[in-house]
Amino acid sequence: MLDGRRILLIISGGIAAYKSLDLIRRLRERGAAVRPVMTAAAHQFVTPLSVASLCEDKVYGDLFSLTDESEMGHIRLSREADLVVVAPATADLIAQMAAGLAGDLAGAVLLASDKRVLIAPAMNAMMWAHPATQANLATLAARGVLRVGPNAGDLACGEVGAGRMAEPLEIVEAIERCLGGAGRLAGRRALVTSGPTREPIDPVRYLSNHSSGKQGHAIAAALAAFGAETILVSGPTHEPTPAGVKLVAVETASEMLAASEAALPVDVAVMAAAVSDWRVATVAPQKLKKDGKGAPALPLVENPDILATISRRRNDRPALVVGFAAETANVVANAQDKRLRKGCDWILANDVSPGTGTFGGDRNTIHLVDGAGVEDWPAMTKHEVAQRLAERIATALGPAAR
Ligand code: C5P
Repeated sequence: MLDGRRILLIISGGIAAYKSLDLIRRLRERGAAVRPVMTAAAHQFVTPLSVASLCEDKVYGDLFSLTDESEMGHIRLSREADLVVVAPATADLIAQMAAGLAGDLAGAVLLASDKRVLIAPAMNAMMWAHPATQANLATLAARGVLRVGPNAGDLACGEVGAGRMAEPLEIVEAIERCLGGAGRLAGRRALVTSGPTREPIDPVRYLSNHSSGKQGHAIAAALAAFGAETILVSGPTHEPTPAGVKLVAVETASEMLAASEAALPVDVAVMAAAVSDWRVATVAPQKLKKDGKGAPALPLVENPDILATISRRRNDRPALVVGFAAETANVVANAQDKRLRKGCDWILANDVSPGTGTFGGDRNTIHLVDGAGVEDWPAMTKHEVAQRLAERIATALGPAAR
C-alpha cells in the first residue's frame, strides 16, 4: 500500500524510539523506502546499526559530515522524500521545530523541507500538558504540520497520562492518510459510531459502560485512510480524533441517533458504539439527595436502537450496514440471530467475556457474520481489525461511480 513511497524518518531521543524500529518494519512491509535521520540523543536509545539494518539504508545524523554532505546534502535529504515523519517527536524537538532552529541535521532538514511533516509526539504527561509544549504544537499545527497521538496510558517514567507515542500501526495509518491512502473508498461517504453513551440520572450522575472507543475510532481512521469522507459520531472517549475524520461528539443514545440520521446519506455505516440499552425515565432536574427513606427508584426506559433504525431506513438506507455483537457466550449463534433482528448486512462478533481483555484492550478476535456464513478472523489488534474491515468494505462497495 505504500509501494515505492519514500519516507524520511527522523528519530529523536526518547524512550519511545524503540517503537520506531517496529515502525520501520511495518513501513518496509508495506513497500515504503525509509531513510533514517537520528538526533544525537536518539543514539542513547536505539543503535544506528539496528536502524540502518531495518531501513537497509545508512543513518544520517551529522550536519557537518563531509561524506554525508558530498553524497547527500541536507537539502536533498529533505526534498527526496514523499513525507517527513518525526517519531518519536520529543518536547525538545517540537520546540526546535516551532522555533525554526537548524543547529543539527534533524532541525536543518525540517527547516529546509518543502514536504508534508507528520509528528508522533512522545513525552512525560506534564511535559505534554505544559503551556510551552502546547503553544509549540499550536504553532506547528498552524503551519500545517500533521500529528498522530500521543495516547494516554502508562508512561515509561512511571506516571500515567497523555504522552505515549502512538503505536506503530497507528503511525502507519496516519502516514497512509497523509499520502492519500489507497483511495479505494474515494468518493464514498462513511458513518461510524464509537464509544459509550452516557445517560444522565441527575445533573451529576449517569449510566454508562466501559467502552473505550478504540475499535470505532480505529475503523473511522481506516475508512478515512482509504479515502472515504468519514463522519465519526462518538460518545465520550479519551481517544484522539483521527486525522481527516469529521467528529460529531454526543453524550446520549438519543443524541447519537439524531447525529447518525443527520449524517445520511452514506454508502456504509459501521455501528461500533456501545450504546446504553436503557436510560432513566425521568432525569432529575436537581442532584438526588439521601433523604433517609432509602435508595430512590430509578425506572428505566429502552433507548432507540441506532443500528436497527439505520438498517430499516426506507429511502436512504446505506448500501452496507455493519454492526457489532459483544457476546460472552454462543458468540456466532447470537450474532447470526442479531444480524436478522437488526436488519444489518454484517455483524462483527467478538467475545468480551472477562479475561479476554477486549473491552478497553488493544486486541480483538472477530467473527464476521454475513448472509453467506461466518468468517473467523485471527486475533489481531483493533487497528488491524479496522484495516481488514476497511478492505472488506472497499471490496463490497467497489469503486464509486464518477
Ligand atoms: O443489541 P446489542 O447492543 O448487542 O447490539 C450491538 C450492536 O448494535 C452494535 O453494533 C451497537 O453499536 C448497536 N446498537 C445500537 N443502538 C443501540 C444498541 C446497540 O446502534 N441502542
